Amino acid sequence: MSLSNYRDQIIVALDVQKDEDFIRLTESLKGHATYVKIGMELFYTKGPDAIKVLKEMGFKVFLDLKLHDIPNTVLKSVKTLVKLGVDIINVHAGGGLEMMKAAKVGRDQGMEEYGITQKPLLIAVTQLTSTNQNILEQDLLIKQEISEVVKSYAMKAKEAGLDGVVSSALDVELIKEACGKEFITVTPGIRPKGSSTDDQKRVMTPTEAINIGSDYLVIGRAITNSDNPGGALEKIIEEI
Ligand code: C5P
Repeated sequence: MSLSNYRDQIIVALDVQKDEDFIRLTESLKGHATYVKIGMELFYTKGPDAIKVLKEMGFKVFLDLKLHDIPNTVLKSVKTLVKLGVDIINVHAGGGLEMMKAAKVGRDQGMEEYGITQKPLLIAVTQLTSTNQNILEQDLLIKQEISEVVKSYAMKAKEAGLDGVVSSALDVELIKEACGKEFITVTPGIRPKGSSTDDQKRVMTPTEAINIGSDYLVIGRAITNSDNPGGALEKIIEEI
């Protein structure tokens, strides 16, 4: 695969709040990153303005708000997010089948109502990459193997008609086996060799994640903590 294709598979997580950090990061990433991710931190600080600015700069935007609420609220919220023109939207699979189905209805209604022609991908978070077996059992009282839980949540997302899931790269093979190759996997918890794992527990290197079949890699601190984020991204692409 060519370097430009790998570039289109990397989503840089812009987990910042201050304007100066936002400007420093986006200026450095301009012309290097195809996708950027707006998480709760940035969205709750800058709101829909952040999306507008990033779209004007030419980035594709993954709005990572991980919706998890009653189906009616999720339906209406997704519809509103579609109006903002984002490229990827997500919900928590833990919200259940009905909630995920409602999210899809919201996406489809939003496209129709607001005349959006480019369909935003709608994906579900299986388990956070900061969750391990111990947390699952002790805190969430889920006794199954984490990989079984991830697989089952992914199958529910597929049944609801979603486009794919967010998961650890460690679960990509299992998910593709259960849901098919076309079912998209977006994988955070990516750490180039030698970098700190921070709070992530289930991590993989960019090369390993691509080789195992991950469709999109979400990379945050390994790029954003660098003095030269654009350069750090290029280094990762070359390494792959
Ligand atoms: O800095 P780091 O590379 O760990 O950033 C990972 C990003 O992916 C964060 O924005 C985090 O919120 C997000 N994420 C995650 N695990 C999930 C879903 C999203 O780490 N399951």
